[in-house]
Amino acid sequence: MSKVLIIGAGGVGRVVTHKCAQIPEVFSEICLASRTKSKCDAIASQLEREISTAKVDADNVPETVALLKDFQPDLVINVALPYQDLTIMDACLEAGVNYLDTANYEPKDEAKFEYHWQWAYQERFKQAGLMALLGCGFDPGVTNIFTAHAKKHHFDRIDTLDIIDCNAGDHGKHFATNFNPEINIREVTANGRFYEKGEWKETEPLSVHRSFDFPEGIGPKDMYLMYHEEMESLAKHLPEIQRMRFWMTFSQQYLTHLRVLENIGMTRIDPIIYQGQEIVPLQFLKAVLPDPGSLGESTKGRTCIGCVLDGEKDGQPKHYYIYNICDHEQCFAEVNSQAVSYTTGVPAMIGAMMMLTDQWTGQGVFNVEQFNPDPFMDELNRHGLPWKEVILDGKPDVLKD
Ligand SMILES: NC(=O)c1ccc[n+]([C@@H]2O[C@H](COP(=O)([O-])OP(=O)(O)OC[C@H]3O[C@@H](n4cnc5c(N)ncnc54)[C@H](OP(=O)(O)O)[C@@H]3O)[C@@H](O)[C@H]2O)c1
Repeated sequence: MSKVLIIGAGGVGRVVTHKCAQIPEVFSEICLASRTKSKCDAIASQLEREISTAKVDADNVPETVALLKDFQPDLVINVALPYQDLTIMDACLEAGVNYLDTANYEPKDEAKFEYHWQWAYQERFKQAGLMALLGCGFDPGVTNIFTAHAKKHHFDRIDTLDIIDCNAGDHGKHFATNFNPEINIREVTANGRFYEKGEWKETEPLSVHRSFDFPEGIGPKDMYLMYHEEMESLAKHLPEIQRMRFWMTFSQQYLTHLRVLENIGMTRIDPIIYQGQEIVPLQFLKAVLPDPGSLGESTKGRTCIGCVLDGEKDGQPKHYYIYNICDHEQCFAEVNSQAVSYTTGVPAMIGAMMMLTDQWTGQGVFNVEQFNPDPFMDELNRHGLPWKEVILDGKPDVLKD
């Protein structure tokens, strides 16, 4: 029986709230708070049980502390934007509350995805006797847990890891992003980066691509090498891995639109003066693009996110693929959201459950691969994200070099 405060009433916040509300034996009291309270109320009105809602500007530490002191939750699930991670962590420290998020902190004026800002809170959380669980969505999140599961059950040594994120869904729009457009476009237009033998190697944005044949009828799709934050924590916690890469699929239509927007300066994150006012072009673009939370109704198709690993077991080479397939329309029928929000929100709920039921405990700041993956993997099967694992004959050709 515990009280949870969810901050952020966007696409992911909606899924987390629905999923927590389905499990009253763990989440006995829920408060959903966000910058725009009407969005919290709209989500609350879709639920079969009562939850409370509140307005909070999570950039403002005293305002967030006041809400925490008033509601007195056991845990904050932060599904606002990565910009709010540090202020919400500060508020949790001041009010004595545990913390969980799904994306690492990013400064607003620089597209930089690094854990060091949040890892720097280690001593303060430890001394306060509190736990912060970072990156508990799908990627980062489940992909780290898939890797920990592979290490525990399938490998004596992992040599290479390829994380592959495919959205084979179609929302029927010319151009839209499946989660917050500002965060998504900053991520996609950044340089690619992969890890090899203890070093990070940079590539031009979206310059390296391969075609991967996805399972269960999804078929071949073009995927592009990108930087993704889970590689940073996996490099720290599983240093035996010699090479790590992250790939994401994009359609040609998405890439063409993105290229045009970039070429004309609409993805810039530095402020410009427009009619005497400072505006950030990417923030303006976000305002005119479809709200990802509204895409659920029209999105069809499936996502397939997983990890291909190779290494050694009992002295023999081993090749292994683990993945989840998630259907956009089924997600919408259950929680009024498309699969990208669903695959993020369900793991956030499960991570919260791991903390609140004392299956994952600790004092300090943690990434999910530091805990026993078994109970989390069981809950994925129970709560809408079943996984499959396949022992491969060899490494897929497209991932060989
Ligand atoms: N790990 C993963 O697999 C994964 C995948 C996708 C997304 N994510 C992360 O999930 C988070 C949520 O994504 P989303 O798609 O749900 O984004 P979204 O639809 O844009 O929702 C963000 C929500 O946060 C609220 N918010 C923004 N600034 C705030 C502030 N200062 N104080 C309080 N609330 C604030 C917004 O309020 P308004 O409505 O007033 O703007 C909105 O309700 C992001 O951090 C994203 O990076 C993680």
